[in-house]
Amino acid sequence: MKSTTGRQRRMVVMLSSLMICGALLTACQNGSGTEESQNPNGTGNTQQETDGTTVHFTEDKGTDGDNAGGEDTSSSGNSGEGTNSESGNASAGEGQGSSDNGNGATAEDPLLEKRSISALQTTIDAQSVVTNEESMTVIVNKQRSLPDGYEPDDLVEPNVPFSFDEPHEKRHMRKEAAEALEKLFAGAKADGIELRAVSGYRSYQRQVSIYNNNVKTKGQEYTDRVSSVPGRSEHQTGLAIDVSSPSVGNVLEEVFGTSKEGQWLAEHAAEYGYVIRYLQGEEDTTGYVYEPWHIRYIGTDLAPDVAKSGLTLEEYFDEANIKL
Ligand code: DAL
Ligand code: ZN
Repeated sequence: MKSTTGRQRRMVVMLSSLMICGALLTACQNGSGTEESQNPNGTGNTQQETDGTTVHFTEDKGTDGDNAGGEDTSSSGNSGEGTNSESGNASAGEGQGSSDNGNGATAEDPLLEKRSISALQTTIDAQSVVTNEESMTVIVNKQRSLPDGYEPDDLVEPNVPFSFDEPHEKRHMRKEAAEALEKLFAGAKADGIELRAVSGYRSYQRQVSIYNNNVKTKGQEYTDRVSSVPGRSEHQTGLAIDVSSPSVGNVLEEVFGTSKEGQWLAEHAAEYGYVIRYLQGEEDTTGYVYEPWHIRYIGTDLAPDVAKSGLTLEEYFDEANIKL
């Protein structure tokens, strides 16, 4: 009995050893498998990197998917991180926060991320209609129009002194811009500067009247240097307003830029989220002559950076100038 029992024990020991080895082998294989499966995902992110120039990783991801061809993946994936922080990605973060975040610049620099998200090249469709009309950073100009019939749904009347008394649509602005304007006017007043709001929101139909009247009275060529074609005016966004001062008779002319009020505005507007939109000597870029009275709200985070850069909004939001 004893000898039989001993043999059985040895058999059991041998079988156990074999089973343990098998289990170890399987475990090793599974382990590596896991990491590889992550790579594929990482790859997914990579693909977009292929797009290179563009910002919208997230969306494109799915699309480009195919050529993504896993190959590029790994390598591109890495490079991708270094390069295109592309916010897009960051947010894209779809699933794997860690790798995307790792990329970074975006995740770590909210201004870069906001610029990337608002990049001119990624916020327009094939018909040159902007796709981010509700954004505080929407850019409309001679090359970029608002969607047909666009009208902001949060227009309010800022509590600031206007250059006229009667009710009018031009007394309105989008809520966030209106609140910022109230602070700007309060800041000016505290510094002994007297400003007047002259013209804020402008509907498409009113831009039609203004533009046509300008063409009739000033000619086409001049009109196109000072007045937007309907559908392409910043005033229609509800984020822009013309400001002047009693010291110059509340006119919207270059003389306002040389007044102490105009100079105060140029120096302090950014603190309240506004920028002088049509800078002197930048007609080639903005499409319009210098308008020291026309201020545009883009938010208190970006405005000081734009002012410091000295760039026009077109330049500031051009992918070529954004470290993607
Ligand atoms: N004066 C500006 C360019 C406009 O018409 O919107
Ligand atoms: Zn204006």
